[in-house]
Amino acid sequence: MTCLAVAPARRGLRGELVVPGDKSVSHRALLMAALAEGTSRLQGLSGGDDVARSAAAIAACGAGLEREAPGTLRVLGGPGRLHEPAAVVDVGNSGTSIRLLAGWSAARPWLTVLQGDASIARRPMGRVAEPLRRMGAAVDGRAGGTLPPLVVRGGGLVGIEHRPEVASAQVKGAVILAGLGADGETVVHEAVPTRRHTEELLERFGADIEHRPGWARVRPGPLSPVEMTIPADPSQAAFWVVAATVVAGSDLRIANVYVGPGRAGFLEVLARMGADVTVEAERPADRTADLRVRSAQLSATTVAGEEVPGLIDEIPVLAVAAACAEGTTTFADAAELRVKESDRVETTVAALRALGAQAEGRPDGLVVGGGRLVGGTVDAAGDHRIAMAAAIGGLASVEGATVHGWDAVATSYPGFAEELTRCW
Ligand code: S3P
Repeated sequence: MTCLAVAPARRGLRGELVVPGDKSVSHRALLMAALAEGTSRLQGLSGGDDVARSAAAIAACGAGLEREAPGTLRVLGGPGRLHEPAAVVDVGNSGTSIRLLAGWSAARPWLTVLQGDASIARRPMGRVAEPLRRMGAAVDGRAGGTLPPLVVRGGGLVGIEHRPEVASAQVKGAVILAGLGADGETVVHEAVPTRRHTEELLERFGADIEHRPGWARVRPGPLSPVEMTIPADPSQAAFWVVAATVVAGSDLRIANVYVGPGRAGFLEVLARMGADVTVEAERPADRTADLRVRSAQLSATTVAGEEVPGLIDEIPVLAVAAACAEGTTTFADAAELRVKESDRVETTVAALRALGAQAEGRPDGLVVGGGRLVGGTVDAAGDHRIAMAAAIGGLASVEGATVHGWDAVATSYPGFAEELTRCW
């Protein structure tokens, strides 16, 4: 296990930053490229281990992968190439891989076994298994078919209407991917709209799909290959947006960030807190923009209700912003935090306390007292976002931070530590 020492920032974050390609888009683009008849070219893919797991999974099912450059893959796809994987598919730490692959595999007439690491073994899978069973797949797993490993015998599916009980783009994505190979149409209704990458990308791949905020309908049919550049990941940009906000003297531009539906909620929260972020050079065609961030004094806010699914991954770093703000910030209606890569209510609270902030967990969120972070030693608890949030906390602190378990960051942002050095 590695550890990272983060010194307090000596100067502001300045200049231009390029963050990795979006993880949610990368997974989906790979899974769809494997189904598309012909060769897709995907540029700017996330370089983390999570996306590498999805790439390895489609390769194990017969898709051809050619690496043109770092982050650029040519994917040779098409139903005729695909076959049953010869071995168990190991998704590592990637919840998006296991849930999307469950839906993708349910539409294939063979057996797929999906397993992952100790964190994956604790993550709820009933939410994907139940609708896939209703479509006709046989899905089993530990704890009555609700925990990994998942065993999926696919094929012979029929379309369904599904109303997920939790707001989850992974569940929606799994059902829609299964629907691509089902008889009839599949409709997913969402009480609270979530990120729409599956729908937007399926349009690009030429699928028969219709969608609006709150519902998506897909009919079976072939996909066509694409050439595309994956936009920069707003969830990764969020660490630097908070860093540049709380470190005095910053003026940072982050290029080409996806700001489409369900992903930019953290910017609204930071604006409410008094952050100085401008969304520049918007490109509506691919829903990207550049973010310019200058330092600002923050004040407390309440994050709750329907805005939560659109910023759930950003809560650990928003909690760091809250710890640097004036007043007490509450995060509520966020019980899903407890079933992420770690129990992020507990691990965020522990990280903030280790850095000298006041923080308290609630069943559905946390309460954070603002002020000045002192610094200290944090355990990443195997969770990349806790590690990176703690590092930003260290930058903004008086004494700096030591983050144990830094290797967790490799799942999504291997170059993060190198970027940090621009503050020293
Ligand atoms: C993701 C959806 C969210 C998010 C995860 C990525 C996706 O999870 O937390 O990091 O790519 O669909 P849920 O679907 O469980 O909310």
